[in-house]
Amino acid sequence: MVANAAAAGQPHWSSKAAFVLAAVGSAVGLGNLWRFPSEAGVNGGGAFVLIYILCVALIGAPLLLAETLIGRHGQRSTVASATLMARQSNASPAWAGLAVIGMIANYVILTFYSVVAGWVLYYIGTSGADVVRTIMAGQPFAGAYSHLSVEEVRGQMPALFASPLQMTLTHFVFAAATTFVVARGVKGGIEVAATWLMPTFFVLLVAITIYAGISGDFTAAVAFLFTPDFERALQPQVLNSALGQAFFSLSLGGGAMVAYGAYASRDTNLGQTSGIISAADTGVAIIAGLAIFPIVFSVGLTPDAGPTLMFQTLPAAFHSMPAGALVGLAFFVLVLFAALTSSVSLLEISTAYFVERFKISRAVVASLLGASLFLIGMVSVLSFNVWADHRPLAFLPGFENANWFDAFDGVTGKILLPLSGLITAVFVGWIADRKLVDGETGLAGGPLLPVWRFLIAWLCPIAVFLILLFGLFPQLIS
Ligand code: TRP
Repeated sequence: MVANAAAAGQPHWSSKAAFVLAAVGSAVGLGNLWRFPSEAGVNGGGAFVLIYILCVALIGAPLLLAETLIGRHGQRSTVASATLMARQSNASPAWAGLAVIGMIANYVILTFYSVVAGWVLYYIGTSGADVVRTIMAGQPFAGAYSHLSVEEVRGQMPALFASPLQMTLTHFVFAAATTFVVARGVKGGIEVAATWLMPTFFVLLVAITIYAGISGDFTAAVAFLFTPDFERALQPQVLNSALGQAFFSLSLGGGAMVAYGAYASRDTNLGQTSGIISAADTGVAIIAGLAIFPIVFSVGLTPDAGPTLMFQTLPAAFHSMPAGALVGLAFFVLVLFAALTSSVSLLEISTAYFVERFKISRAVVASLLGASLFLIGMVSVLSFNVWADHRPLAFLPGFENANWFDAFDGVTGKILLPLSGLITAVFVGWIADRKLVDGETGLAGGPLLPVWRFLIAWLCPIAVFLILLFGLFPQLIS
């Protein structure tokens, strides 16, 4: 076998633009629209945003390049690509453990990601019905749920959480849609979804932001997002949240970006595409903040609701906004599109691995993985009602109050993704053959190569290690 010839039958994106669009589709998702505003809201706004941008530029983007280059070099599943690079560098194939950790973490993320995306589906259902109602009543520009009181609008979320049946249903539909797209293949499924859904997503996002700018309190939102409080910014908890958010939002941690890089052609300049993908993802997160916070502030609500911001605060705000019904529906459709192009990347990693390893058809593998992701996701569904007082990781510091859902989210986001990212940085920065790596970056001969080398070999491992350490053991510095 020629060392790095493409594995037989390996799919490819049809163009460089398709690769960038699919990778942006993976990166832009619930992380930008649901998690970023919520994290920014609870971590003091400007302080968090500033640290977040630094984390993306200095740690996220360099790691994104490291991950896509492992995949593109290997042209195989994430595990096989990492093994190949280790072999060719005369290093132990055990380094591919990074890809195994990444694959497991990504699969676990998918199980609860699908549950949250199910909530989005539920809100599309209720706001869709609401739009029909307002149109029938001849008031298409009414506020959202104008026949309900604000308390009743806010009550929708606890009611949804109390109903395992509702949540199961929408979780099932979303998991099935993800499975369907992945089963159709890289070109025929993932790429088609990204090329249709992402442009629509951008148009909707810009439209809603303009609406928020006109009808909302834009000045308050800008002040909140861009006035950093430096004392607050340097708190370990803010640092930890910002780094975790950068990993989550850029789909890092040894999975999705390695997998998508494997379908990129040799003439794709990965240094350049990593920059574009990171910038696009961060841009979307900030624009999402500029769409959500003006609406929240204009009706006197607070930004620090956390995970309920999107599902409770925002509908309550749409309640008293002009055309709130229509805009609310458009908003949740936008979120759904972003979520689907991310969930397919989460499922693709393990699908590609099993297809390659056991030579079974993609449709069969995707269906089996889809079915089990649905079942495991049920644990998250039940953690909001039937198992609400289970504390599975109570013995771990920081997880005393975590239910199953929080445990999945916390263990993957705070531990597994950074760990896999740390190993990736050490592997690419120190272990892998230098010539081979440099040749894949697209930066060779330019001034950015030494900068990237420094970031990936020194800053990334040290920063990720420290943040991982202090995130897990905050008592070390307090
Ligand atoms: N980045 C996506 C988002 O922002 C979620 C996601 C997709 C992801 N693939 C991932 C997160 C891999 C972590 C790892 O919603």
